[in-house]
Amino acid sequence: MLMQDIIQSYLDDLIPLRRDLHKHPELGFEETRTSAIIAEHLEGLGLEVQRGLGKTGVVGVLKEGSSERTIALRADMDALPIKEENDFAYRSVNDGKMHACGHDGHVVMLLGAARYLAETRNFNGTAYFIFQPAEEGGGGAKAMIEDGLLEKFPAQTIFGMHNRSGLEEGKFSTRTGNIMASTDNFHITITGRGGHAAMPHTSIDPVVIASQAVTGLQTVVSRNIKPTDNAVVSVTCFNAGTTYNVIPNTAVLKGCIRTQTSEVKEQVRTGIDRVLSGICTAHGAKYEFTFLPGYPVTVNTKEETQTAVAAAVQVVGPENVDPDTQPLMASEDFSYYLEKIPGCYIFIGNGAGEGGPVSHRSDYDFNDGIIHLGVEYWARLVENQLPAKR
Ligand code: NI
Repeated sequence: MLMQDIIQSYLDDLIPLRRDLHKHPELGFEETRTSAIIAEHLEGLGLEVQRGLGKTGVVGVLKEGSSERTIALRADMDALPIKEENDFAYRSVNDGKMHACGHDGHVVMLLGAARYLAETRNFNGTAYFIFQPAEEGGGGAKAMIEDGLLEKFPAQTIFGMHNRSGLEEGKFSTRTGNIMASTDNFHITITGRGGHAAMPHTSIDPVVIASQAVTGLQTVVSRNIKPTDNAVVSVTCFNAGTTYNVIPNTAVLKGCIRTQTSEVKEQVRTGIDRVLSGICTAHGAKYEFTFLPGYPVTVNTKEETQTAVAAAVQVVGPENVDPDTQPLMASEDFSYYLEKIPGCYIFIGNGAGEGGPVSHRSDYDFNDGIIHLGVEYWARLVENQLPAKR
């Protein structure tokens, strides 16, 4: 029987399961129902299962033959704090929570692959199936790594897959090197001297100084970063003062930085500090700049990207795989794994996009029509990387 036919026969189970997960979304580190369902499925397939890694993470282990080769495949499980506005039967029953990023689909695609590989066993080595909590800002990957994931399950390579709105159904895209940005936040407090609004000469007005800082920070990217590099600095929060006739003591600015390499990240960080220092010195004010590191840049290694592209080409043909897509300014905690071991993060087209639903929106939904492609991609990847004895 062909791999595609076997996988097709799973869809009667996988689609209802995907919709059940969609109906019962859980936020990061709260995925108790989801992870229990996953663990039961994996145990039912005969896999060795570890629960509760990184709080709610689950790992399934499938070993065949005598090869020492290992591979890890990762799916994220968490939903977003969004009130769903879809009206289909399987819309969220958990008010204010929603699978708006398609992680429900990621779970079933990886479960489908575990089933296929457990039933056919046409490989030689060990495959680890990682079901990770809290990708949406919680750093579930970091939590699993800190909980000993890579020591307990020593994967030589790791692969991740994310559905992508706007990329046509039946297509895959990835790239060698940086594919997703790092995301870092900052918190700035500018301290002047408060006073009577009618006597500004007796004060050092932090509102005026912070306003100049907001404008000045716009030059960090536009005048300091090479135009062919990517970076974003957004001031998203400006708080100062309480009433009409008082100049406050302080102003607080908060915002977000996105970069595609650690060098550019460092240039942005020092650039922000330099601009703040100059503006505050000019006005006799003080400042405190706190850099709050978030997810690192997601960097695919060359060999594993070639491996991933080869598997995707087997599934949808070379004309439907883009091996050199543009990096995104969004970020991913899959980056934490790639800091430790080689691997590749790939996109699978979810269709729609422009004009249609996009991820992180209240009308998004994972496309059940791509489940078989994702399952096949995972299965091919394992069979290629852990080749069976002939
Ligand atoms: Ni996502």
